[in-house]
Amino acid sequence: MSFDLVFFGGTGDLTWRKLMPALFQAYRHGTLPEGGRIVAVARDERTDQVYRELIRERFADVESSKRPSAEEFDAFAQLLHYRRMDLSRPQDYAGLKSWIDARGADTVVMYLATSPALFPVICEQLGAAGLNGPNVRVVLEKPLGHDLESARRINRVVRASFREEQALRIDHYLGKPAVQNLMALRFGNALFEPLWRRESIASIQITLAESIGVGTRGDYYDKTGALRDMVQNHALQLLTMIAMEPPSTGDADAIRDEKLKVLKSLKPFTPESVTRDVVRGQYKAGTVHGDAVKGYLEEVKVPPGSPCETFVALRTEVQNWRWAGVPFYLRTGKRLPGRDAQIVVNFRPVPHAIFPGSHQANKLVIKLQPEDGLELHLLAAKGTLGHSGVAEVLSPVKLDLDFDKAFPTERVGAYERLLLDAIAGRLNLFVRSDEQEQAWQWVMPVLQAWQTDPSGPRPYAAGTWGPPAASALVARDGSTWEEEQ
Ligand code: BG6
Repeated sequence: MSFDLVFFGGTGDLTWRKLMPALFQAYRHGTLPEGGRIVAVARDERTDQVYRELIRERFADVESSKRPSAEEFDAFAQLLHYRRMDLSRPQDYAGLKSWIDARGADTVVMYLATSPALFPVICEQLGAAGLNGPNVRVVLEKPLGHDLESARRINRVVRASFREEQALRIDHYLGKPAVQNLMALRFGNALFEPLWRRESIASIQITLAESIGVGTRGDYYDKTGALRDMVQNHALQLLTMIAMEPPSTGDADAIRDEKLKVLKSLKPFTPESVTRDVVRGQYKAGTVHGDAVKGYLEEVKVPPGSPCETFVALRTEVQNWRWAGVPFYLRTGKRLPGRDAQIVVNFRPVPHAIFPGSHQANKLVIKLQPEDGLELHLLAAKGTLGHSGVAEVLSPVKLDLDFDKAFPTERVGAYERLLLDAIAGRLNLFVRSDEQEQAWQWVMPVLQAWQTDPSGPRPYAAGTWGPPAASALVARDGSTWEEEQ
């Protein structure tokens, strides 16, 4: 299958940091369809050769196992092309169209790796130039809007030129192997599904922790904050995959219909519940992995006194028969003690205790990163007797499954997977516009309440698990976060 993959924003960070390395991996793994051209589009005048050299240099920053040898790069570079374009000039789109039409590839993917402010103009111009035929798909990179209104605006413009099934909204978390394993765990195995409900599950915790700060992205981040950057998209997508009903088929729309139902069932926030159920924080100077680091307000390009949140913890519920009353806790933040993404499913305790002592109930820990695996925490009899000499003492044990060991061949990275899916037109791992808008709708009352609340984010020292109020949030339900157990 021949394809043309066009990167708008072809010299930007995302392209050389994530997209090119991912394409190179696909090339190395032999999964990139033959007959492909990768076309970078940007404002400056450059030849293909100059662009190839630029990408060659950038590969020096890629981790060594994923870096091409000189011969590998030379072969890969033959796929790379460059076109100068002024994104507001119709003639430049006409030129791109002639270049694409001259070959007539089976599939054309327009990847918008630009600032979202440019999405409307690019989509309009692609439509006007006729670069929106049935073999064309457009990939939209996050952030997809700043609020519900702007997300709707973007979707309207995209819809004016492309049908829904031509528009692929990226949430790179959906491309992570661990996240696909979540679907496999639930719907490829009969073991857990009967227990996957309020009768057996006491609470669910989703943690997306990062030890990095905002680095040089202070200006972007300050307009965004953790709620928009991580909760509206990545954390909510994970929640939908945990809470959704089994889809009737593996088709994209069957899956996305079920995810949408979960988003629609999320308990809506009110100004009172935002105060009670949402904790926002901002990191101050502290120590991460033994290194002293600065606070958010001292980071470059962060305005003095900014109220931007770098941490969010919240409690919500999925209001349906399966989940009524089960708390779902979401938590994400920068400058936490480690890079650690996981979902903890806390099961209910046994209904009647016959063993002495108080025991922790079973739990399933779904590890997303840095490791990718599952831990099932059970209780087992150690074979020693308790003080009374008559009853077994139970001890916690765990079944520990490491997918990187179970599948020792190199696993497909998130962007590699998503790029191959975009080329092949597999839509399962892309977010549909109604899902995306529903997720915005749910976070809007939080954003609105914060705007009028002068108290601002709570401070936490870098290298800690956020403000103490985050612990109090779960303690109210008699729970603790995973690291506190
Ligand atoms: C991005 C956010 O979407 O996800 C970043 O904009 C964040 O702020 C990143 O660092 C985290 O992704 P990952 O794959 O490193 O967990």
